[in-house]
Amino acid sequence: MDTRIPSLEKYQEEFERSLASPEAFWAEKAEHFSWKKKWDQVLSWNFEEPHIEWFAGGKLNITENCLDRHLEKRGDQVAYYWEPNDPAAAGKSYTYKELHREVCACANMLKGLGAKKGDRICIYMPMVPELTIAVLACARIGAIHSVVFAGFSAASLASRIQDCDSMLVLTSDGAYRGPKSIAIKSVVDEALEICPSVQKVLVLKHTNVPIEMVEGRDLYWQEEIQKSSADCPAEPMDAEDMLFILYTSGSTGKPKGVVHTTAGYMVYTEYTFRNVFQYQEGEVYWCTADIGWITGHSYMVYGPLLAGATSVLFEGIPTFPDAGRFWQIIDKYHVNIFYTAPTAIRSLQLFGLDFPTQYSLSSLRVLGTVGEPINEEAWHWYHQHIGKGNCPIVDTWWQTETGGIMISPLAGITPLKPAFATLPLPGVQLVIVDQEGKVLLGNGVEGNLCIQFPWPSMIRTTYGDHERCKQNYFSTYPGLYFTGDGCKRDEDGYYRITGRVDDVINVSGHRLGTAEIENAINQHADVVESAVVGYPHEIKGQGIYAYVICSKKNDDLAMLRLEIMATVQKMIGSIAKPDKIQIVSGLPKTRSGKIMRRILRKVAEGDVSNIGDISTLLDPAIVDEIKAGAI
Ligand code: WT7
Repeated sequence: MDTRIPSLEKYQEEFERSLASPEAFWAEKAEHFSWKKKWDQVLSWNFEEPHIEWFAGGKLNITENCLDRHLEKRGDQVAYYWEPNDPAAAGKSYTYKELHREVCACANMLKGLGAKKGDRICIYMPMVPELTIAVLACARIGAIHSVVFAGFSAASLASRIQDCDSMLVLTSDGAYRGPKSIAIKSVVDEALEICPSVQKVLVLKHTNVPIEMVEGRDLYWQEEIQKSSADCPAEPMDAEDMLFILYTSGSTGKPKGVVHTTAGYMVYTEYTFRNVFQYQEGEVYWCTADIGWITGHSYMVYGPLLAGATSVLFEGIPTFPDAGRFWQIIDKYHVNIFYTAPTAIRSLQLFGLDFPTQYSLSSLRVLGTVGEPINEEAWHWYHQHIGKGNCPIVDTWWQTETGGIMISPLAGITPLKPAFATLPLPGVQLVIVDQEGKVLLGNGVEGNLCIQFPWPSMIRTTYGDHERCKQNYFSTYPGLYFTGDGCKRDEDGYYRITGRVDDVINVSGHRLGTAEIENAINQHADVVESAVVGYPHEIKGQGIYAYVICSKKNDDLAMLRLEIMATVQKMIGSIAKPDKIQIVSGLPKTRSGKIMRRILRKVAEGDVSNIGDISTLLDPAIVDEIKAGAI
């Protein structure tokens, strides 16, 4: 069923109805799915524990809704076009029927390796079709997938495997990334030295680099799949059974496993996919994210498949073999809806118009952005040069924790304002609060963004540590879910996200905790202490600025910086490498030992004229040293 909202009036009507009777509203949106048993109760909740249940009593399997449900009507329609890293290599496509068969075979392969309902399976793979197939195969048998972005280091992978005791790891021999070939199996091998829970490793041969196979533990995907039948009935799941865990960074050092459950996530991702992009039957949709992030889960795997869409999956990077690759792919597959990150737009903008003008972009109908605030300049470039002035841009605000898009225009329906995510989707009850938690009513206000009522795809817990979920999201402002973002509601009631207000930074659309980077830097033998802040960066949105105290004087600072970067790369991955490292003799601390990050941010921003009150510092003189040494 097509649940698209057709007009602005209808949006307003739906929005009002979703506030007045949320249960009736979401029951209506859940109706058309295939349920093994309908729910007993649409919603029960409290934000104190927190405890959230949607569609309790319902039984279903999400893959039946992604695949089986479509077979009759669109079995021969393409679900995915896969575009490999190398434009000269052969691509692949999968119809719904073919995808269904592959998922069932993969599901049986996982069962053959001992996986069953409730088990955690870690997936560490490049952007190949088997990654999507593996995700769906887990869901088919009721195993909980935990996809780890294949750019994370062995240490990061190990901590994610350990946190949820994954029993299986799915990986490939290697990965292509533009001109590079990366040996990812060796990263898994290193991680598994400290992961006793892992019984088997399934390895997809992809780049054919030589690898070591551990006897009794490692098996080749291509061999095992041969032995697996393509008949796999879907495991009946409770509406609130865990669907997946996805690790994301927070204010504290250790990434947390955000838990999403089955039915609510399904209903919300489908509804938002259809409505935000106004997806029309037969269109080609392309999201450039990696499946290792929530955007990939919700809007490359689940949302589009639930809506019966045709999507493009791309293995490579925007600048290989040259900066025209995105535009070439749009031309090749006649992409109608294109969804990417502001950082990609900004970096491609730098290459000028010679690239986009070489290709036909006339198939485009809708453009989208996600992951970080988009600056007006990039917005206009995207609108004018990619959308040729006639494609609406949907600037979609959401989070790993929200599971789906929360604030966004509906393409072609909501009047746009550059750099504004515009209005909340139906069912989303936003509030802006001040520092004390007082709700700011009316328009023309700015403060911290909270949500006061549950939505179906919201975070249920942080894996293995419910208290952490409560502390992180539900304790800052009791009774509210706190997003961690600052936000403005302008005179027209339009929302603009101003960025994180906690110790989380957003680098090229990747979310990183400053504490996590500090912990990594501190692993370097000469480092005593460090403090990391974000600063505005032309392409990445935010850059990483590290202040580092060392135990001894080092004459070769360039070498020391390289070593620190290598340490961070080893502990987290190259996405977390600092852009700037300033060696300091001390940090601006208050008498109680708290680092005054405000000062460090100002210096990193290059704004040293107005540092503010420093009288509460233990050693105010350190500020002058830091200012003088700024990079
Ligand atoms: C944080 C969540 C949502 C999928 C990708 C990121 C920032 C996200 C926007 C946007 C301004 C945005 C927020 C948010 N963010 N989208 N359209 N405008 N900021 O998911 O890794 O969980 O990061 O990304 O700061 O809290 P994530």
